[in-house]
Amino acid sequence: MTWLAELEERARASLTAPVLEYVATGAREGVSAREAGWADVRFLPHVLRDVTDVSLGTTLLGGEAEVPWGVAPSTLQRAVHPEGEVAMARACAAAGSVLVVSSNAGTPFAEIGATGVRWWLQAYLPADRTLAQPMLERAVAAGAEAVVLTVDTPVVATKYAAGEQVIWDVVDPQLLRVNFDPGYDDRPGAEKATDLGPHDLGWLAEVSGLPVVVKGVLRGDDARRCAQAGASAVWVSNHGGRQLDRAVRTSAALAGVVEEVGADVDVYVDGGVRSGLDVLAALALGADAVFLGRLPLWALVEGEPGVARMHADLRAEVTEAFRLGGCRTVADARGIAVLPERP
Ligand SMILES: Cc1cc2nc3c(=O)[nH]c(=O)nc-3n(C[C@H](O)[C@H](O)[C@H](O)COP(=O)(O)O)c2cc1C
Repeated sequence: MTWLAELEERARASLTAPVLEYVATGAREGVSAREAGWADVRFLPHVLRDVTDVSLGTTLLGGEAEVPWGVAPSTLQRAVHPEGEVAMARACAAAGSVLVVSSNAGTPFAEIGATGVRWWLQAYLPADRTLAQPMLERAVAAGAEAVVLTVDTPVVATKYAAGEQVIWDVVDPQLLRVNFDPGYDDRPGAEKATDLGPHDLGWLAEVSGLPVVVKGVLRGDDARRCAQAGASAVWVSNHGGRQLDRAVRTSAALAGVVEEVGADVDVYVDGGVRSGLDVLAALALGADAVFLGRLPLWALVEGEPGVARMHADLRAEVTEAFRLGGCRTVADARGIAVLPERP
């Protein structure tokens, strides 16, 4: 087993039961959470190509990234490790990887920005959109370079508790949502919007002045609506199987979205990415970048050094996979995969 492959098992041994359950569990029966993965994608590698020098660098939203993967937003990083988002940010900055910060973060945006990491804000919009504005302004002031609007969560899906306590019974409120105004959650209109529409993308771009990425898209037709409404990127995701259970796995949805909008906007993907081969599979199916949800959380159990090692080991694995696939660049990787079945 590689260090990366053993990460989850090691993290499971040291996290408390409610935190472990929070990170690991999928919605309802956990079908989508279990099915996530890339092992059914097959490669058609090139040969007789010079792969002496491999470059993993890429362009995301017009900016340079050293690697074609980033860290997906996740709530409660400070419950996984006391240094939470700051440890994650430092390790991402050192690796040249983009960090997407949850609007539920337990660390002030200014502290995350001060690490020098290239970071994007993930936002959910409330029923009264204007309530989100102060939080958006704080993110912009702290250097967020994009807003990622999560659109697969009109309501938080039901997760079945295995133990007596769930995370929300035991979590220190100071580890959560520190970038909102005090008393935010009690205000009328602070509940999640159930009426999101394409017009919200324009509103978000206007109030933030930032490019908007739409996270949680699985269908080509929805991706087209996002692009038409001004999105700079769409992010293929089923929220790690934490929202609509039995939603298709992202490896099956990706190609349809790329086919529909890939020529016009960036396409990102997440879900079950755990290894260099998984990264190559996603790039080969046309993703411009891949985002990692649980993997960096398992690594974060070991603090900043854990996340730094995750990036380093992934870099080594992806480099090897590129060489074996006959790819020198991210652009070369495109198209060397054979599709799994379509949804
Ligand atoms: C513990 C945890 C918390 C998450 N919190 C958020 C969040 O606050 N906002 C969001 O858009 N997605 C959130 N996600 C979803 C991730 O951004 C991502 O879509 C998903 O984890 C990818 O699947 P993977 O865990 O298999 O890599 C969370 C995921 C996990 C595991």
